[in-house]
Amino acid sequence: MVEENESRVLRRRRLVRVVTRRLSFRATLFGAGTLAGIVLGWMLANYSEGIPVRAATSPATGEDIATLRTELEQLKTLVPDQAHAMQDVGYHFGNLWFAAQHQNWPLADFYLAETRSHLKWGVRIRPVRQTKAGDIDLNGILEAVDNSLLSAVKEAIDKKDLEQFTQAYRQTLEGCYACHKASEKPFLRPQVPKTPTVHIMNLDPAAEWPQ
Ligand code: HEC
Repeated sequence: MVEENESRVLRRRRLVRVVTRRLSFRATLFGAGTLAGIVLGWMLANYSEGIPVRAATSPATGEDIATLRTELEQLKTLVPDQAHAMQDVGYHFGNLWFAAQHQNWPLADFYLAETRSHLKWGVRIRPVRQTKAGDIDLNGILEAVDNSLLSAVKEAIDKKDLEQFTQAYRQTLEGCYACHKASEKPFLRPQVPKTPTVHIMNLDPAAEWPQ
């Protein structure tokens, strides 16, 4: 019985961990931060590591777990979808082009890092896609893109080499497209952007205002 209770507690903790991880994906984007915060706060207060006392005195009932499952499902609906994360990728990767054209290398470095982390986020949201050709492991594709193509972009930025950057950037776009095709979305064909999406950021590395 004690063991069974313990395994329930462990299961609940795992659920909380899943929820916590999902929430860290900027649930606030949806203006739902407050709601999520309240729910999460409640869950943590009840189920976090620090409350074995409560867990020991009132073991989880089937009802508790059912409630938790319902809440987990609700929280899942607040998590942005893969297309949303990808839109961010498009934003960061697009701005990266212009930061580099302005030879604003620190800003380029920032946009590259954001591109990489948002790609990872997107793939975490949905790591496997079902296609006619079978299940596609997006993680594997992303790893390949990240380790080779995006690493080459990083190298060019570190070297402040615009020519190498341009080549690596274009090659990465081919990598982006390879994954879109594998995901049966060949109509998502990226291009070198014509105008930056960001307007509020000054791309000029020699800008003097604001100080
Ligand atoms: C590991 C696979 C993978 C890689 C790598 C990838 N994408 Fe995507 N991307 C997807 C999938 C899958 C979708 C469609 C998501 C959906 O429909 O829910 C998508 C959609 C998009 C969208 C459309 C979002 C929208 O709703 O308008 C953009 C923009 C985008 N990707 C940009 C990029 C760029 C830029 C890169 C490369 C830097 C890239 N993607 C690399 C898998 C990938």
